[in-house]
Amino acid sequence: MQSPIRKKMLEAFSKSKGEFVSGQSLADILGCTRTAVWKHIEELRKEGFELEAVRKRGYRIIKTPDKVTDNEIRYGLNTKFLGHTIYYQESIDSTQKKAHHLAYDGCPEGTIVIAEEQTSGRGRLTRPWHSPKFTGIWMSIVLRPKLPPQQAPQFTLIAAVAVVQAIEEVCGLNPEIKWPNDILIKGRKVTGILTELQAESDKINSIIIGIGMNVNAEESDFPEELKKIATSIAIEKGQSVSRARLIQKILEKLENYYQIYLEKGFSPIKWLWEGYAVSIGKNIIARTITGSIEGKALGITDEGVLRIQDENDKIHEVYSADIEF
Ligand code: BTN
Repeated sequence: MQSPIRKKMLEAFSKSKGEFVSGQSLADILGCTRTAVWKHIEELRKEGFELEAVRKRGYRIIKTPDKVTDNEIRYGLNTKFLGHTIYYQESIDSTQKKAHHLAYDGCPEGTIVIAEEQTSGRGRLTRPWHSPKFTGIWMSIVLRPKLPPQQAPQFTLIAAVAVVQAIEEVCGLNPEIKWPNDILIKGRKVTGILTELQAESDKINSIIIGIGMNVNAEESDFPEELKKIATSIAIEKGQSVSRARLIQKILEKLENYYQIYLEKGFSPIKWLWEGYAVSIGKNIIARTITGSIEGKALGITDEGVLRIQDENDKIHEVYSADIEF
């Protein structure tokens, strides 16, 4: 975890919007000496921040490092609570696993776990999730909505809308959603979302939303079996993108849609989601654990369940499946 003083220091730089902050104001804000300020500036430099120091003017941040440390994410983050507690590790087995432990131990709502690399990242249906170092966003978010567990699948869809809009705004690309949890660009998967629960029979204790996004991975970073079905933001855009900026935007969007959802229910999210959904209106095959259903995807219910009409006009409601079309 990061020093509370450097956290405050970055907040001060964030407020100054690129302007100089004098050593004395930093010392006043942080309640320490100017020598201590200088030491903390040196620590930020070691973390990869480029800081300019000018006599009689003070310090300003010129460049933030291409890492997704808690400092990086906090600098310029515009949320009320999401991402205010950040657990960062350069390498971790799985952010999802860590988030489960933190949630169980009572971490605040909005806590995020983030890593540069996962050694045992996992996807849906216990599949492995390829998470090489510095190339992607491997992040888990803890929410604590006061809701019954049946509503949990909606959170995958809320997160999907947040992720799509973040990619659109930060990268200028046009991703689509494949129900329930895949974000695609030109038919290839760029992001997967894994929503898990800690719940009692009638109430959610916490929801853990895991987001895995291929951001700056190149073709050669993918193993052979993923090359044809996966892509990254950098491959599609033709240039690399700030992962920290993308994370901030995802958190801002997710917080916004979470609040809309709590105030107004699922319907406003459902409309947005359907606007981005690639399979709606198409003939699809849904492979569930009990067998396959073939038919036309009609849309989703208010609970986020997929409705499929088969050739006999029978409507099936599918809670979990892999979709082909
Ligand atoms: C899927 O499409 O199957 C979901 C993939 C979810 C991967 C993310 S990466 C961050 C978090 N930690 C994990 O171990 N998994 C999720």
